[in-house]
Amino acid sequence: MARIIAGLGSPHAPAVGAAVDRRDEDSAYWKPLFDGYKPMRAWLERAQPDVIILFTNDHFTSFFLDIIPTFAIAVAGQHEIADEGWGKRALPEVPGHTELAWHLSRQLVDLGFDLSVCHRLPLDHGSLSPLSALMPHVQQWPVKVVPILVNVLHFPIPTAARCFQLGRAIRECVESFEDDLKVAVLGTGGLSHQLAGEAFGHINPQWDEEFLERLENDPESLAALTHRELIERGGTEGVEVIMWLCMRGALSRRVRRVHRNYYHATLTGYAQVIFEDLENLPHT
Ligand code: DHB
Ligand code: FE
Repeated sequence: MARIIAGLGSPHAPAVGAAVDRRDEDSAYWKPLFDGYKPMRAWLERAQPDVIILFTNDHFTSFFLDIIPTFAIAVAGQHEIADEGWGKRALPEVPGHTELAWHLSRQLVDLGFDLSVCHRLPLDHGSLSPLSALMPHVQQWPVKVVPILVNVLHFPIPTAARCFQLGRAIRECVESFEDDLKVAVLGTGGLSHQLAGEAFGHINPQWDEEFLERLENDPESLAALTHRELIERGGTEGVEVIMWLCMRGALSRRVRRVHRNYYHATLTGYAQVIFEDLENLPHT
């Protein structure tokens, strides 16, 4: 049986991927963020998950205004690297897990979630900036990745409650997959940020701290928030945190936080967490 051993949370931004590629991790500007990745890299090396289920979003790269699925899953054996306008990053294609992705696609329908199934889905910074910061990747990636895409850009977007429920449903589906896989779930994006309009540059560190606390201990209360409530606190793009709720929904009620870091120097409240799943501890 496959089992979920932990949930990880990571920011995403094009600048993070560029800093990885420039090896700029020790500059004064980036060190507080990349120091936060060190325990995550060590954890991944130690825990050796077979698969990461990645809750991520596309930024009008592979989807555009003509077609925007609310939820989508990438089932390819290899995920291409997208060109977001300044050339493709020199990264190997990211290996997928087609069997698990199809299992999730089928089983989720039975549980009331009808995801768009994508046979080809080039990944953008939403996926690649966290993955490249989290693990070695020059020759090949050490883990297979099943991306689940959430529309967080163009209304109507799914509610926080729906995202949390999707996480729960995914846990159930993972546990009905026959192969003995160790699965980690990774939520990307957020926390507070606003990239347009009068409140451009809005960051709310108090809210971000509160969000992280409640994510760990009382995620249902976050899942009950409306988009408006999330945006009032965390800015328009801060609504991206619904992807962190997918991640938390996939974990057991009680988790053990083994890592938490927060940094805001740029346009985004960058947070990193590892929650080990107390029902499926990784080192057994
Ligand atoms: C930026 C882009 C993002 O997608 C995001 O979530 C945060 C920041 C950026 O361009 O800085
Ligand atoms: Fe984003």
